[in-house]
Amino acid sequence: MALPYLRLGVNVDHVATVRNARGGRHPDPVHAAKIAIEAGADGITAHLREDRRHIRDDDIARLKAEIAKPLNLEMAATDEMIRIAVATRPHAACLVPERREERTTEGGLDAAGQQVQLAPAVAKLKRAGIRVSLFIAAEPAQIEAAASLGAPVIEIHTGAWCDALAEHRAAEAQCQWERIRAGAKLAREHGLEVHAGHGLDFDTAETIAALNEVVELNIGHFLVGEAITRGLGNAVKAMRAAMDRGRR
Ligand code: PXP
Repeated sequence: MALPYLRLGVNVDHVATVRNARGGRHPDPVHAAKIAIEAGADGITAHLREDRRHIRDDDIARLKAEIAKPLNLEMAATDEMIRIAVATRPHAACLVPERREERTTEGGLDAAGQQVQLAPAVAKLKRAGIRVSLFIAAEPAQIEAAASLGAPVIEIHTGAWCDALAEHRAAEAQCQWERIRAGAKLAREHGLEVHAGHGLDFDTAETIAALNEVVELNIGHFLVGEAITRGLGNAVKAMRAAMDRGRR
């Protein structure tokens, strides 16, 4: 049986990080998003952080207005972000935990421990016609909480697996991989659509592409890094090829 198509969402946050290092308008994350789409990205992801350290409000407005593929807005479940999401109406909103002092989104959302706070956020976004996803670790309690919150989608945090592989901690990497595999399966059994992301590169994207429960990967930092040497379009094409190899 043919596996479902695996979408590639390209995260353009770090194009904005480079822009903001100097101020001004260059490089432009919206221009980068268009190049990524031209090269085969199925959607664009951008994280509007509370401190606006990379993506800014007008980037989100321009992405929504100018790109021809779905926009996935990563956001904390705060009143401010929900207001922006409801006004912007991206295709999807991925709820992530956010701490000012972290360098990136270091852990998954505690959907199990924060059901009371998350329930109204999920409901408001869904009422606005936005497809809600929860960025969580592949743990049964988190997956079950996502299902009971009525979120249609989860994004599995692949950071711990990618870090263990990069640091040659083979036993830990194997253990994290088994969690991802089992978590993706459990999520499907609960009727959830399964995405994955964080820390993925060509090798890990190819590996995870073999899981037929996973239908979307969101990848940012590695692609923006590769873009410096081979160009963003070429990096996206190479990622697409890696995902296709894994899927086969
Ligand atoms: N998915 C989510 C929910 C994220 O928060 C991030 C990081 O912003 C990514 C995917 C992309 O991670 P990376 O930049 O490591 O590819």
